[in-house]
Amino acid sequence: MRVPRRLYIALTLLFGIQICFWLFQSSRQMSVHPIETLMSDAQSKHGSWLNQTAPSKTVEDAAKEYRRRYRRDPPPRFKAWYDYAKLQNSLIIDDFDSLNEEIAPFWSLSPGDIRLRTWESVSNPWNFIGGIQIRKGKLSITPHVPPTHMWMMQAIVEMIEHFARWLPDMDLAFNLNDEPRSAVRFREMQGRLGIGHNPWQLPTSESGDFQPDRLWIPVPGEPIEDSRYSEGSFHDSFHRYGSVSCPRDSRARTERHWNLRESCAHCVAEHSLGQFVRDWSYAADPCHQPDLADNFGLHLSPASFKDTNELMPVFSQSKAHGYSDILYPSPWNYVDKSVYAPTKDEPDFPFRDKVSTLFWRGTTTEGMTTGDGAWKGMARQRLAHMFNNATDADKPLILLPTSSADPKNPDAPQVYNYQSLSPSTLHAHLSTSIALVDRIERCAGPDCRIQYAEFRPDTTPPLSFQSHWRYKYLFDLDGAGFSGRFLPFLQSNSLPFKASLMREWWDPRVTAWKHFVPVDFRLTETWSLLAYFAGWRKDVKRDAWLMRPHEREAERIATEGREWAAKVLRKEDMEVYFFRLL
Ligand SMILES: *[C@@H]1O[C@H](CO)[C@@H](O)[C@H](O)[C@H]1NC(C)=O
Ligand SMILES: *[C@@H]1O[C@H](CO)[C@@H](O)[C@H](O)[C@H]1NC(C)=O
Repeated sequence: MRVPRRLYIALTLLFGIQICFWLFQSSRQMSVHPIETLMSDAQSKHGSWLNQTAPSKTVEDAAKEYRRRYRRDPPPRFKAWYDYAKLQNSLIIDDFDSLNEEIAPFWSLSPGDIRLRTWESVSNPWNFIGGIQIRKGKLSITPHVPPTHMWMMQAIVEMIEHFARWLPDMDLAFNLNDEPRSAVRFREMQGRLGIGHNPWQLPTSESGDFQPDRLWIPVPGEPIEDSRYSEGSFHDSFHRYGSVSCPRDSRARTERHWNLRESCAHCVAEHSLGQFVRDWSYAADPCHQPDLADNFGLHLSPASFKDTNELMPVFSQSKAHGYSDILYPSPWNYVDKSVYAPTKDEPDFPFRDKVSTLFWRGTTTEGMTTGDGAWKGMARQRLAHMFNNATDADKPLILLPTSSADPKNPDAPQVYNYQSLSPSTLHAHLSTSIALVDRIERCAGPDCRIQYAEFRPDTTPPLSFQSHWRYKYLFDLDGAGFSGRFLPFLQSNSLPFKASLMREWWDPRVTAWKHFVPVDFRLTETWSLLAYFAGWRKDVKRDAWLMRPHEREAERIATEGREWAAKVLRKEDMEVYFFRLL
């Protein structure tokens, strides 16, 4: 399976992905721009999400709501969590559905088995998993954590120390890699969820507190050598891990998308409205998207990948759909590794005073390309190619009005249809600054040289993180794992455009098209998005609009994202989430 697929990558130029023309040609002309529909849907979606999360006012109500949602009693010391959440002014008290779905399969393991799997994970340094032990409210880091990742373990300790005194003794295993670790096959997962489905029957402690006596196996000073994880770095992983959680008759398990020159139109259509992402969560689901195998570093050729198909209680900062890792708030964000901190020299102006440019900088660290051209499928390289090196033979589709906006009535409805335009025309109308910087990393053989010639990363001067705030539109893209920049982007006055298959702890709280602009992972609609928000001139030399800029709408999303992040994505919210999880 691996050889022919790789051969295809070598033979085919993935660049210039073109959505099948027929898909859009066959759609009628539209009198409402799909983005308007999607923005208005997002308002009601967020409204109904908020309604169902309207916080309980007392711990008794919160416990009642817990039983209603999760069909079991809340854990012992629930009141301590509730009081902590209230003290931190957490807006979210009741809705932890995604957290619960994530831990549901672990009810199928006995407590002793969970302890054993944790012990195994942290006792072999090859696994690249760090351990934290909690005994009588005191935390310690297990031996064998590599010095490069001590900052991460220390940040986790810092986060947990806020509430450690209320936790029972426990051992925890933290993934030190960016890539997720455990992907359980569909059928096994169904079985596990079946075992855990009636938690009312779980034994509860007589005293109403955690059971005091647990059997701990000390982490050995001399590391163990066995491991349930296997080495998968530099290999394709979609069919062994990324899609195994999908039903056996799903497209991801039954189809191969061989024609890498064209985007998989039926894959996109399922979660989109025209070119635009309709369902952000579904858009990351691999099961209807066999083409994701060749579109993302994690699936194509991850740089660090030690994985298993067994269910492992391992905590990760982010994961692709289909992995069973337990998400916890990112230490990267908790200790401000990328921070929103504008300065006098690099201020964050109001949206309308920023430069109307789509901006992205990054390095080639999404995956490891070993000489077979796997980099051509990686999202970061696709993005840089699309905006800098696409030739006029590639003609991206862009959604534009068929006739000019009425200058007297710029809000009057217009008729739109998809048109195919050359990159030079697109660049003449829209401003972008997208570049791979520094040097070509994670490559071997000819892939280093070819990428260097293509991207010339040394020609773009380095920049400070705070200089992002000059631009109205900030592109955000996964790397080897999640993008650590997204939170600062959200906190700024700029508008993030986000393309991502990785999901983090906060995913259900943030609404696409209300708090940020979602982008399909194939990136095909990026020009249309920019044209909608930044506007499109009839003629680049004259000041008449074919489509007026929708800057009010852009500013509204930027502002709502910023305000919402200040309410539900604070460090306090990370602590409240983590406390609840543990
Ligand atoms: C939220 O609930 C309020 C009061 O029950 C209701 O008036 C409102 O329409 C609801 N909003 C949504 C979006 O469901
Ligand atoms: C691709 O674009 C970059 C940036 O504009 C340029 O430096 C490079 O020479 C281009 N490469 C090719 C092969 O055209």
